[in-house]
Amino acid sequence: MALNDNYGRKIDYIRVSLLDRCNLRCSYCMPSSGVELMEHNKMITYEELIIILRASAKLGIKSVRLTGGEPLIKKGFLPFVKTVSKIPGIEDIALTTNGTLLSEMAKDLKDSGINRLNISLDTLQKEKFKKITGFDKLSETLAGIDKAIDLGFEPIKLNVVLLKNYNLEEIGDFVKLTIDKPLHVRFIEMMPLGQVTDNWKASYISWEDVLADVKNKFNICKTKGPQGKGPASYYHVPSAKGTLGFISAVSNHFCDECNRLRVTSDGKLKTCLFSDGEVDLKAAANTNDVDKVIEALKNGIKQKPRGHDIDRDTTTHRFMSQIGG
Ligand code: GTP
Ligand code: 5AD
Ligand code: SF4
Repeated sequence: MALNDNYGRKIDYIRVSLLDRCNLRCSYCMPSSGVELMEHNKMITYEELIIILRASAKLGIKSVRLTGGEPLIKKGFLPFVKTVSKIPGIEDIALTTNGTLLSEMAKDLKDSGINRLNISLDTLQKEKFKKITGFDKLSETLAGIDKAIDLGFEPIKLNVVLLKNYNLEEIGDFVKLTIDKPLHVRFIEMMPLGQVTDNWKASYISWEDVLADVKNKFNICKTKGPQGKGPASYYHVPSAKGTLGFISAVSNHFCDECNRLRVTSDGKLKTCLFSDGEVDLKAAANTNDVDKVIEALKNGIKQKPRGHDIDRDTTTHRFMSQIGG
């Protein structure tokens, strides 16, 4: 069954934030003190999520992305993934993680049914990693990436949020990684969400400026890119093992092709990353009636806006860690 919204966009992808907790504190995502954490009883449970995903699959959703916070710190994650993998209609289970726990969990993740990995990594330098995430864990994340490569995960995407005065001089190092390893590096424009609402333009750089910088240093050409459901446009250095993606979330947003639903860590269906429009899925899931959840999902899809104007509506009361990116 194909699911279309009011603007004819096909919706076949759902992103779920499993929890608002994280074992890092990336400065653009959370304050160093951490955000005020959601009370446990307000958080979405695995049982509720399974009903929501069953209902979504009945409506034609085929791909699920599990995000957080950091999903790998949530107890019971692996059995949950196994259950999701058995839902009829779900063909693709992707994970967004900071990679710090990957080296110990990658094998079990693969066996449980995760087939795609996106790993957040903004720097390849130890001191800078400490500065931006608040923790000295770069070597853990790098080990996790290598383990995922060894196990044959494909694609493995690295999400690199670019910030002025922080990691621009590493752009070339990240491009080199795609030459040597089967990694798909995606440079992401920083978005004015959560912690980054004041003076965000001081750190912001547009994808066109980044592309120009890369073209100055490397010979690159457009390419189709790896399997995915997201908004990146891809390039590669000919003969490289991986590719290079650009996610222009601010300068050239992709609302016309938006294919997704988002579930927050407290079980609200968010109609757009940049709006406060929400529908309570947790309440619907608690009826234990899949039809009620289907109704709530359809109601949310009806409310999906055509798009947003980031400069005008940088309005969501939520932190990125509650929405899941
Ligand atoms: P795949 O292409 O399927 O791998 O997924 P993805 O790129 O959607 O997933 P990921 O969790 O890695 O998200 C990467 C980044 O894309 C997020 O941090 C956001 O910056 C951006 N992004 C994803 N979805 C949206 C969206 O709907 N709107 C906007 N503005 N940005 C988004
Ligand atoms: N702008 C752009 N990307 C962000 N992420 C978190 N906060 C922001 C922001 N303000 C990214 C993370 C992760 C992805 C899911 O979202 O780096 O890779
Ligand atoms: Fe954690 Fe990801 Fe937020 Fe960093 S961006 S603090 S890794 S949820």
